[in-house]
Amino acid sequence: MPNSEEFIEMDEEYCAHNYHPIPVVISKAEGVWVYDPEGNKYLDCLSAYSSQNTGHRHPEIIQALKEQADKVTLTSRAFHNDVMGPFLKKLCEVVGPHINDPSNIGIMALPMNTGTEAVETGLKVARAWGYIKKKIPKNEAQIIVCRNNFHGRSITIVGISTDISAVRYYGNFGPYTPGFTIIPYGDAEELENMILEIGSEKIAGFIFEPIQGEAGVNVPPEGYIRKIREICTKYNILMIADEIQTGFGRTGELFACDHENVKPDMLLLGKALGGGVYPVSAVVTNKDIIGPDVIKPGTHGSTFGGNPIASAVGIKSLEIHVDEHLAQRAKENGTYFMEGLKNIIAKGPKVPVKEVRGKGLLMAIEFKVDARHIVEELKDNGILAKDTHSTTIRFAPPLIITKEQIDWALKVIEKVLIR
Ligand SMILES: Cc1ncc(COP(=O)(O)O)c(C=O)c1O
Repeated sequence: MPNSEEFIEMDEEYCAHNYHPIPVVISKAEGVWVYDPEGNKYLDCLSAYSSQNTGHRHPEIIQALKEQADKVTLTSRAFHNDVMGPFLKKLCEVVGPHINDPSNIGIMALPMNTGTEAVETGLKVARAWGYIKKKIPKNEAQIIVCRNNFHGRSITIVGISTDISAVRYYGNFGPYTPGFTIIPYGDAEELENMILEIGSEKIAGFIFEPIQGEAGVNVPPEGYIRKIREICTKYNILMIADEIQTGFGRTGELFACDHENVKPDMLLLGKALGGGVYPVSAVVTNKDIIGPDVIKPGTHGSTFGGNPIASAVGIKSLEIHVDEHLAQRAKENGTYFMEGLKNIIAKGPKVPVKEVRGKGLLMAIEFKVDARHIVEELKDNGILAKDTHSTTIRFAPPLIITKEQIDWALKVIEKVLIR
């Protein structure tokens, strides 16, 4: 069997260089631990960008996957299957109480595969709702987005990105989709000002992340989410929360909007919904927004969306998130982990630190200098994390992590940062 170095060489040779991975090869995983082909063991502090909330290869999820694989795997939506309905019923039951449904009309979901597709779907639904329900003049719908957002990498989505690499690379992918306006993140006044500037009658939606993950775990000021809820209601604009990274307990509540007791009109979900084994995403909203008068046959679809394996995995993932109280565990253990990080930084790290921030088990240390070498040192000492925007290291372990494992991680982080 090839060794790690040879696997990395193969990736370099045959895979387009669209990522810049940490030089480690993972060939086995269980719970919070992953292993390379040489047998070295690492604590996963990235969780596949928050997709491994339930831990690697949760036995019940693997069992659900295997049992479904023995029955039926893919039918396409040309036919019904006997798992998608139960999955979406469960999804609407779990997520429904977190969605704004002022007329009590009921909750519905549209299943897709990746987060990017959930975002694209949400944007399409918002525009369609804008024309059909809000009566926005044809082809004039606007959607407001935030600076430093990360919603995926389709052409439309990179067109609304202000990512630093956007400046360097995305210039090669235009022309982009019109109808989007970018405002600063975390300032509700900016939203209201932009609505007034464009004219509220032309705006279908406002899409935002309640905490910006890829931007470096940017937590908005307290009250921001409540204020944008008020503004969206005031001007009849859909409040679209992209909780693909923050959802399902990651930040210490089931959804990050729950920290301010806010119900968005639409939730975009992905990552952890697939239990760390399968791409499963969904748009969840009320039936006024996504009902049959807005989304009709042929208006949207995906061959794999809602397939039996995704649905079986999705049901089990939802059950485990709820039954194992993962949000509550993220809240407690996140506070503990964060205190530990702050204590380490207070000792005076060898590399200057700007800030430690986060919520629940979505945390970050922002350094004043490039942090890639720290990420590599962490790896050499048994912790896998990833830099984002070069100066920030995100720590997002599986939500099943224990206090003992956090203590171990903190010792390693201290050794790397203080030595
Ligand atoms: C907030 C957010 N939205 C959307 C996406 C895109 O998800 P995917 O990579 O599954 O397409 C991501 C991925 O990191 C994300 O963090």
